[in-house]
Amino acid sequence: MSDVSQQALRRRTFAIISHPDAGKTTLTEKLLLFGGAIQMAGSVKGRKAARHATSDWMKLEQERGISVTSSVMQFPYDGRIVNLLDTPGHADFGEDTYRVLTAVDSALMVIDVAKGVEERTIKLMEVCRLRDTPIMTFINKLDREGKEPIELLDEVESVLGIQCAPVTWPIGMGKRLKGVVHLLTGEVHLYEQGRNFTRQDSTIFPSIDDPAFEARIGPKVLADLRDELELVQGASHPFELEKYLSGEQTPVFFGSAVNNFGVQLLLDFFVKHAPAPQPRATTTRDVDPTEDKLTGFVFKIQANMDPQHRDRVAFMRICSGKFTAGMKAFHVRTGKELKLANALTFMASDREIAETAYSGDVLGIHNHGTVSIGDSFSEGEPLIFTGIPNFAPELFRRARLRDPLKLKQLQKGLAQLSEEGATQFFRPLMSNDLILGAVGVLQFEVVAYRLKAEYGVDAIFEPVNVSTTRWIRCGNEKKLEEFRDKNASHLALDAADQLVYLAPTRVNLQLAQERAPDVEFLATREQA
Ligand code: G4P
Repeated sequence: MSDVSQQALRRRTFAIISHPDAGKTTLTEKLLLFGGAIQMAGSVKGRKAARHATSDWMKLEQERGISVTSSVMQFPYDGRIVNLLDTPGHADFGEDTYRVLTAVDSALMVIDVAKGVEERTIKLMEVCRLRDTPIMTFINKLDREGKEPIELLDEVESVLGIQCAPVTWPIGMGKRLKGVVHLLTGEVHLYEQGRNFTRQDSTIFPSIDDPAFEARIGPKVLADLRDELELVQGASHPFELEKYLSGEQTPVFFGSAVNNFGVQLLLDFFVKHAPAPQPRATTTRDVDPTEDKLTGFVFKIQANMDPQHRDRVAFMRICSGKFTAGMKAFHVRTGKELKLANALTFMASDREIAETAYSGDVLGIHNHGTVSIGDSFSEGEPLIFTGIPNFAPELFRRARLRDPLKLKQLQKGLAQLSEEGATQFFRPLMSNDLILGAVGVLQFEVVAYRLKAEYGVDAIFEPVNVSTTRWIRCGNEKKLEEFRDKNASHLALDAADQLVYLAPTRVNLQLAQERAPDVEFLATREQA
């Protein structure tokens, strides 16, 4: 087998999806701990500090307690290379999350045992469903009282429409939590409280029939457990690898992330069964991860990741071949060769210069605005990866400066931040307004914060009479000119100088469309 194939097959690239507060960040930390990527101090404070140092780059997150950026964390485990793509939890950052989900091969769903399936989980699950992404489930916070495990499985099945195959099963919960039984190996892992935060090897019994186990938990608990397991095995589905891989079934684990309990069982199972990089569709053909030539697509852009250096990093998911430091790649949209100088890999603790990378890995490509979300790279073949969504903004605000002398910086900041894809920036033809469009309201706050922190600009965002946008295209120059003249008060240029119609109402948009039948009104920005 070629080096490229071998390396591709070792990769496991995934994201964690959950409703905010279910425990995604905590679980991420524990996974990194097992991967040896971080060493955790033995206190909550240390844990918090470590959390911000590892998965969050931005101060804002520390203040608001939300993940603003998606980061990538790579760690080795059990002979595999695991790439964990972090997704922001807050609803306003959905767009970013959706794109991250196009770059993974599987997902891990975290559910709070007391809350069950929540609204955000439902939405994220819908996105995974579009691509039949295989999903494992971790039911978290078993150290607290919550819903009955059987009830939770029912809820996942009926609300999310996916079959559940429990792989571990809890023995009690809350104060009564004794451990979990591994339903496939029969092993029992005891829960030992108070050994939080550090990697722990819990006491393991080979089966519930082990007399030492009975001695430990007592005959009454054991008898109840036997009854319950019989019930569970009768009422639930056995794990079937094929069904998991086709997205029809989710293996379910129980545990407590904060106590680092049940996490290793999940991780062991994950690296064994989660899919390696999968073939990816392009407009011309499917690309296999074991192909020798480098291909990939950009699913995320982030400006100013390092405030010391005004850098802009495009995150590229490698889909095939091998990247070696300093190599050139063909940037399909522009038709130009781009030197991938100083490309970054994302070890959990730091960003590092990549020497080599393979299918499933993510590279950070430094650039000055030439690379956009959705761009494809290859070694010369003009292939374009499909399925990277580009959402139209739904909310609009006008940026107003507190210090009018900072107009240049404001324009630059808005343009650069909008390249990340979470917001879009419009300059109306007939006024000096600067209008920002976003999918969620919190993004205006984020932009205001970042303008100040990264560009030294104090701006506020106020309401503006725009409800939707359409990108304008027209093959006939004369008709386009006519349209421009008639509609100038509603037209603007976006960050890429493309013409955009800013409609105050849906009715206005409809009328404009009816009056200009030769003009195309596109709901998303053109990629090419
Ligand atoms: P998120 O990224 O999904 O939003 O969740 P996060 O990990 O930040 O966890 C949300 C809260 O739930 C945190 O408490 C965290 O400590 C707690 N938590 C996570 N896993 C468990 C668990 O297994 N059991 C219990 N009881 N709690 C858990 P917090 O008070 O908001 O933050 P912190 O002060 O603990 O950091």
